[in-house]
Amino acid sequence: MDIQKLQSIYFSPTRTTSTILDQIANSLEIVNTTKIDLTCPQTEQDPNQLSTGKEELVLFGAPVYGGRIPPLAAKRLSQLKGNQTPAVVIVVYGNRAFEDALLELSDLVRARGFIPIAGAAFIGEHSFSTHDNPIAKARPDQADLNNIEAFGEKIKEKIMGIQNLGAEHIPLIPGDTPYKELHKIPIKPPITIESDCTQCMACVDACPTQAIDKEDLLKTDQDTCIRCAACVKICPENARIYDDPKLQEISKRLSTNCCDRKEPEFFL
Ligand SMILES: Cc1cc2nc3c(=O)[nH]c(=O)nc-3n(C[C@H](O)[C@H](O)[C@H](O)COP(=O)(O)O)c2cc1C
Repeated sequence: MDIQKLQSIYFSPTRTTSTILDQIANSLEIVNTTKIDLTCPQTEQDPNQLSTGKEELVLFGAPVYGGRIPPLAAKRLSQLKGNQTPAVVIVVYGNRAFEDALLELSDLVRARGFIPIAGAAFIGEHSFSTHDNPIAKARPDQADLNNIEAFGEKIKEKIMGIQNLGAEHIPLIPGDTPYKELHKIPIKPPITIESDCTQCMACVDACPTQAIDKEDLLKTDQDTCIRCAACVKICPENARIYDDPKLQEISKRLSTNCCDRKEPEFFL
């Protein structure tokens, strides 16, 4: 199979998924590469511009939220259209579990006309990781980067071996159907500490749902906020924080129960 172009398409509020996709893209050594970031509304694109062809490989990436891919990521990915386009599906999770997320992503892109030839689950620092309750701190790390390189080699080998791309090239991906039930995350949105905020608007720009009021940064819409922590991680003054005690409980529990290092898994 001849691949002329590589597109990375991802949803990545705290940027670990995008970092991992960049590294996979590097390892594939395809000269013509483009990226489509579906994280923020201003980057939402006309679905027609996103149609892809046969000589292209598309890397799809999303984080794991509650063992699934975030509903918003699924919605934005559902706008895409492939043309029996080969794809690689990648989920990134915070060292707890990825459950049905990779299967869901694979099924979603198949339904949109792509053919997943490989899949992987990588580990990124958990969005709820803090100084006191670290969860997969500083991942992906050097060992992960070595694994990414190895995954890239396997993708290249698989591509070289494919003459006529078809359903027989789709790997078996773990997960259950129906997928795990979606649950609302039982924590309040982050707040802004007024005295520390310099109104730089980084939080507003980083929010995937425009939940933070541009005119009044102290207001965050409870219903649109997806608790992704993008605003907390990006704030240069540490003025956006989760002050809900339930979040500290969750972080502490994850930090204690999910401290055994998990390793990336590949499906080819
Ligand atoms: C609302 C929410 C739910 C999450 N659920 C899970 C989960 O079920 N399993 C897990 O291991 N990590 C979970 N995580 C952690 C993320 O998958 C992880 O931090 C990932 O690296 C975030 O990707 P991003 O940096 O591209 O946003 C969750 C994070 C958030 C914000």
